Amino acid sequence: MEVLIGEGEQLARLAADVIEERVRSRAAIGARAVLGLATGSSPLAVYDELARRHREEGLSFAGVEAFLLDEYLGLPPDDPRSYRNVIEQELVSRVDLDPADVHGLDGLAEDVPAACAAYEMAIVASGGVDVQILGIGADGHVAFNEPGSSLASRTRLKTLTPGTRADNARFFDGDVDAVPRHCLTQGLGTIMQARHLVLVALGRAKSEAVHQLVEGPVSAMWPATVLQHHPHVTVLLDEGAASRLQLAAYYREAFAEKPPWQGL
Ligand code: GLP
Repeated sequence: MEVLIGEGEQLARLAADVIEERVRSRAAIGARAVLGLATGSSPLAVYDELARRHREEGLSFAGVEAFLLDEYLGLPPDDPRSYRNVIEQELVSRVDLDPADVHGLDGLAEDVPAACAAYEMAIVASGGVDVQILGIGADGHVAFNEPGSSLASRTRLKTLTPGTRADNARFFDGDVDAVPRHCLTQGLGTIMQARHLVLVALGRAKSEAVHQLVEGPVSAMWPATVLQHHPHVTVLLDEGAASRLQLAAYYREAFAEKPPWQGL
C-alpha cells in the first residue's frame, strides 16, 4: 500500500495519470482498458482532470469499458440521484466513453441475486478491472460495503447504515428519509480482484477511517482494511484525511525519495 499525501489537484492529477497510462497502454496493443468508477465527492476532481485531458490533450476513452461500484435500490437509472446518472453527468457525458460500455447495477432489478450474479460474470467476461477508483466512507466502507461486511463478499444487496444515509442525505435535499435503505454493491472480494486500486480520501472527517485503512488491524468493522491484503493499492490523501496517520512522516519521505522509474 502506497500512501501519498498532497493537495486536491495534485492528487487528482496522480489518479488521472494512473488511468491515462492504463488507457493508453491498452489501446497501444489493441486491447481495451477496463475502469472501475466510483461515485461520491472524492473522485470528482479526478473526473474533472480526465475530462480536461480529453478536451485539451486528446485522451480518448473510445473502446474503454467501465463498471460502477454500487447503486441505490429502487432508483431508476435516469433518477438524478442514481449513481448511474451521477457518473453519466460527472464523466461519461464529458468524454468519448460509449455509454453502452459503462455498466452499472440495476436499481430496479426484479431478481436481485440474479442481477448481482450477472454483474459478477460481466466483470469477469470483460477481463477484469484494470484500475479501480475508490472513495471511503467515514465508517470505513468502500462502495457500499458497510461495517460487518464479509471481507470475501461478492456483489449483493446491502442495508445502508443510518450514518451513511445521513452522510448521503445531502444528495436528497437534506432529507434522510428520502435516502434509500438498500443498495446493490460490488463486494469486497469483487473489488479486491481489480488489478490496481486507487483510493482517494479528502478532509478530516475521513481521518479515522484512513488511519484504520492504512494502519489498523484488518477487520470487518472497518471494511476498507481488507485492502491491506491487496498487492497494488495507491492511497491518495489530503492533509485533513492524513491527519491521524501515525507514520505520516515516513510516507512523505518514501514518496519524496521514490525512484523516478518506479511509477505508481
Ligand atoms: C458513498 C459511496 C462510496 C463513497 C462514499 C464516500 O457511500 N457508495 O463509494 O466512497 O460515499 O463518499 P464521498 O467521497 O462523497 O465522501
